[in-house]
Amino acid sequence: MNTDVRNAIYNQAKEWVLEAGKNIRTKIDDPLVIDTKSNPNDLVTTMDKETEAYFVEKINQNYPEHFIIGEEGYGDKLTALDGTVWIIDPIDGTMNFVHQKRNFAISVGIYHDGIGEIGLIYDVMADILYHAKRTEGAYKNENKLAPLKQNVKFDEAIIGLNHFWLCDNRLVDEKVMQQFVRNIRGSRTYGSAALEFAYVAEGIVNGYLTMSLAPWDIAAGIVIVNEVGGVTTDIDGAKLNMLAKNSVLTCNPNLQQDIIMYLKKGRK
Ligand code: IPD
Ligand code: CA
Ligand code: CA
Ligand code: CA
Repeated sequence: MNTDVRNAIYNQAKEWVLEAGKNIRTKIDDPLVIDTKSNPNDLVTTMDKETEAYFVEKINQNYPEHFIIGEEGYGDKLTALDGTVWIIDPIDGTMNFVHQKRNFAISVGIYHDGIGEIGLIYDVMADILYHAKRTEGAYKNENKLAPLKQNVKFDEAIIGLNHFWLCDNRLVDEKVMQQFVRNIRGSRTYGSAALEFAYVAEGIVNGYLTMSLAPWDIAAGIVIVNEVGGVTTDIDGAKLNMLAKNSVLTCNPNLQQDIIMYLKKGRK
């Protein structure tokens, strides 16, 4: 993607993300209409839909030749990542949005011919924007993020993961996962995949491990983590499919090898 074109798209995307965030903050105490999707704990609100619709309208008006993948279905049904594709999660961490009114993010990844060019993760209530352009580094607001420490040992690592790893699951034997959480220094569960990617990029957690995420949960995060020398694959180390759900591991390349080896012991 041409640098001038990319800069223009980046500036525009950033403006829309900040604007959408401001709208959410303004309405944060308004009564919510909450629905459920795949199960009673899979929540969606009118604000998720309103925010996605806002992006889709803006993109269609300004960039009619671009494509959109969005969680709430206002975008396009794509079977390939050709051309410029906006991959949008209007509210990542809807459960936090509903129950805590914080700790949620707007996540926008912009890909060109399958390559992640721009990543924007906006912690709406904290007013913190994590952002990156491919090969130009990653930022937290105006501050450039440092490269990830490459020498964090497995037993000194803090890993983001959720508690379902410790229950009977289809991927890794739960006894191995129980040893895993005992062997690492600590675990954290923030409830927003996008923010967990941002925290990996910031170096305040050393990795993030999940069983199943959709493209909109990870599209922006991948770009941002890449820019600080991190890698993102599935839990076997294989490349992710950005048109499907994947298990996901994001961290520095050394820790990635240690974690993949560890999980192998209990891999189903
Ligand atoms: C969810 C959050 C959560 C993760 C779930 C996602 P949503 O996204 O990122 O942290 O564990 O798998 O679905 O539905 O709040 O956008
Ligand atoms: Ca959701
Ligand atoms: Ca999400
Ligand atoms: Ca969402």
